[in-house]
Amino acid sequence: MNTVALRQWHVDEIDLANDGFYGLSFDDRDEAYRVLRRERPVAHFAERAEPPFEAGPGFWALTRHADVVEASRSADVYSSAEGTLIRDRPSIDIATVLHSMFDMDDPGHAKRRKLVADFFTARAVSGFAATVERLVDEILDDVVERGECDLANDVAKRLPVAVTCDLMGVPPLDRAWIQQRTTVVSAYGDPSVLPGQSLPVMQALNNANELGQYGVELAKHRRKAPTDDMMSRLAHAQIDGRRLTDDELAQWFLLFQSAGSETTGHAITKGVAAFDAFPEQRAAWMADFDGLAPTAIEEILRWSSPVIQFRRTLTRDIVLHDQELHAGDKIVLVYSAANRDEDAFEHPYRFDIRRKKNHHVAFGGAGPHNCLGAPIARRELRVMMRAIFERLPDLELAAEPTVLRSTIVSGIREMPVLFTPTARKGN
Ligand code: HEM
Repeated sequence: MNTVALRQWHVDEIDLANDGFYGLSFDDRDEAYRVLRRERPVAHFAERAEPPFEAGPGFWALTRHADVVEASRSADVYSSAEGTLIRDRPSIDIATVLHSMFDMDDPGHAKRRKLVADFFTARAVSGFAATVERLVDEILDDVVERGECDLANDVAKRLPVAVTCDLMGVPPLDRAWIQQRTTVVSAYGDPSVLPGQSLPVMQALNNANELGQYGVELAKHRRKAPTDDMMSRLAHAQIDGRRLTDDELAQWFLLFQSAGSETTGHAITKGVAAFDAFPEQRAAWMADFDGLAPTAIEEILRWSSPVIQFRRTLTRDIVLHDQELHAGDKIVLVYSAANRDEDAFEHPYRFDIRRKKNHHVAFGGAGPHNCLGAPIARRELRVMMRAIFERLPDLELAAEPTVLRSTIVSGIREMPVLFTPTARKGN
């Protein structure tokens, strides 16, 4: 339970369109979501002009679990084709890199998803387990002797970037370059990620474009010398009897790097923060790691909810909770809010690694776009948490974590930690 007094919200004060909202503490945001779920489950927010975006038509936010699940599953009514970020894709050239299969409806989306789905089966992921363990060992080796580090950047973020790079065929030397860019892309507007720079959204788009172009170059190499990685697959793949274009290869590369990297990193960081705040949960898991791992991992995912929200656009008029909504309206599915819904979870504000009924929507509401990388993310969480418990058993927070101010990713920008130094495993 919270020990700090929560901000008291009047429902009219809450503005999910104001970037400032995303700089508030997680507890204050959760409290605002609670008020919305109870008093205004379909809430409208205006979109102001902010270069490169024009003032948009505004959006409706769904904060209840049942509504988020229903909207996720009813893709014929709640379409992804107009974009999945709240703001429309800016009409500038470099923004085409955002137009991946994630921003498509079936059948086009399903055809594309099928091209790589076998990289994410349970079998494929368990074949990948040794790689994840090796990567975790290497990452922890770089910090264990120091007795302190920034867990968010020195540890948590590095794993998913390394895993996604490995999956896609990016050489290890390029990982740091990729990590820098995915951080800027996923912040999508947090001015503190690039201090001193104007137009953080333009910076995010430029970085997104650079990542896309990297993917195109990698695919060119793989056309000449294929291996068993995902870019080799995509470089030779056919859609409707033709090869993927450079634009499409760029979109794929960006989608996987951004979807796979920041999300999992923030789940790890917020998971470690939760165990610091709830030491009895940490002691319980350390005492029976394998026994509690299945439920503990789901609880970390629910608790951390690394993706705040994605958007859909209505294909026809509907009425929801007495509110008339019209074809073309933007609807935002607030996963972070749904994951604290009292009607879906018993004691939702309790971090409980033994939680039984945990149908969280951290990976989406089980619709056609449900997270493809979920089995990999679960594996990364398991291996990393075990390694932290074993190698840094007395790790504790050295200062309050800094919240990332992003409208997409619910994360921690920096989290200094202390621990008793231990020996490296490798040379
Ligand atoms: C804790 C980590 C992660 C979280 C919380 C997360 C969350 C999500 C969410 C909320 C969606 C949208 C679901 C929807 O619209 O219904 C999504 C889609 C997606 N995720 Fe993840 N994700 C994570 C890790 C990963 C990883 C590791 C990868 C790949 C390496 C990945 C790849 C994708 C892809 C490709 C999609 C789009 C799927 C589609 O359009 O069919 N994600 N993820």
